[in-house]
Amino acid sequence: MKICMIGSGYVGLVTGACLAEFGMEIICVDSDKAKIATLEKGESPFYEPGLEDLIEKNMKDGGLSFSTDTKKGVRASTVIFIAVGTPANSDGSPDLSHVEAVVREVASYMNEYKIIVLKSTVPVGTGKWIKGVIEEEVKGACTFDLVSNPEFLREGAAVEDFFRPDRVVIGAENEKAIEAMKEIYNALYLIETPIVITTIETAEMIKYASNAFLATKVSFINEIANLCELVGADVHDVARGMGLDGRIGRKFLHPGPGFGGSCFPKDTKALVHIGREHNCEMEIVQSTIRVNERQRERMIEKIEQMVGDVRGKTIGILGLAFKPNTDDMREASSIPIIQGLQAKGARIKAYDPEAMEAAKKVFKDVVYCKGPYEVAEGSHALVLVTEWNQFRLLNLERIKGLLLEPVFVDLRNVYEPLHMREMGFRYCGVGR
Ligand code: UGA
Repeated sequence: MKICMIGSGYVGLVTGACLAEFGMEIICVDSDKAKIATLEKGESPFYEPGLEDLIEKNMKDGGLSFSTDTKKGVRASTVIFIAVGTPANSDGSPDLSHVEAVVREVASYMNEYKIIVLKSTVPVGTGKWIKGVIEEEVKGACTFDLVSNPEFLREGAAVEDFFRPDRVVIGAENEKAIEAMKEIYNALYLIETPIVITTIETAEMIKYASNAFLATKVSFINEIANLCELVGADVHDVARGMGLDGRIGRKFLHPGPGFGGSCFPKDTKALVHIGREHNCEMEIVQSTIRVNERQRERMIEKIEQMVGDVRGKTIGILGLAFKPNTDDMREASSIPIIQGLQAKGARIKAYDPEAMEAAKKVFKDVVYCKGPYEVAEGSHALVLVTEWNQFRLLNLERIKGLLLEPVFVDLRNVYEPLHMREMGFRYCGVGR
């Protein structure tokens, strides 16, 4: 099966490299010449565990290639995946201009039957609209089918998620397209991955509903964590006690500084926007967004409660990326926290294992360090913002000796409160 993947960002590149591993012939196309040049050297343009090895291996085996030439990709393939970005407009609606432009270009090169697969997260109804756009462009010159195939990959675990997904969702209108998609995902079917076959609109909705529900779980546990602090309960035990109920589930009940990344913030806003367009207020999702914004502000208040007035003080930050195992800074909680502290007159020292280059484009006046101990040295408090593994086993005696004040604010609840206090830290976590 020959496949063209348009858009070599997170989704496109991971999907392309993984499908090549299944033995398919993949050509990944992107208009960004520098990105394609990097990929042609066998390097990944972003940090994602396991991806670079997969790219290198499949390039060597001949199954994976890269190009800036959309025409070449489209003409050579039967199935064309669209995996370009849908950033948020200022009103929260997703910007579909990249998707539309790419689809029009693809359609202009179509000379025989093709299956167009939408992987980008797009509002319900976009599939139908795109179908109309293609019809307009091809003017009956060839036939095609449109499929919605949303992705559920987590950054930092995307390769693992691709090979062991909870489900594959295929939204299609006829058997021919469904059969082609089943063939593409046959390796997953063989390991008994549930394949959900549905209409295009339903597939589009499954994606938004899933992300909004997970984001709601995070905001819910953050709200419970805040109440736990006031009533003297421990949110970890609460989450465990709740999560053992199979109807609730243990995942995504970890409290912290709020959700970030390129998906939850954008997709929750988009769902509220789609609801408004249909006169259907999405009240739960709106609250999820509000609770998340408030949670970030609360983290600054937490730091102030521990440090006092932060003006003129140095705050050491461990972790900048929106979560571990990625260098992605999009909507990271570190951004409002650091900028909020700076606005109040604090000096910031920081370290992140992978995201410092990306962070330099976001922050002004941050002193970047070589490691956690350099961050601690001369700081009035250490704030753990992203739970990278290397922050889980810090030499705490050494940290205490390097800090000006033994203040440790653990926004991911990595450490045990009792142990930290016994060690002589002024310690606080979230909801404990
Ligand atoms: C999310 C979904 O998990 C994927 O299934 C989906 O495919 C992806 O969005 C997407 O739409 O492309 P991702 O944004 O990579 O994946 O990150 P998550 O692991 O879901 O984490 C999102 C945010 O929630 C992070 O800031 C994380 O720190 C936070 N989070 C997550 C918590 O604060 N607590 C939790 O218990 C779980």
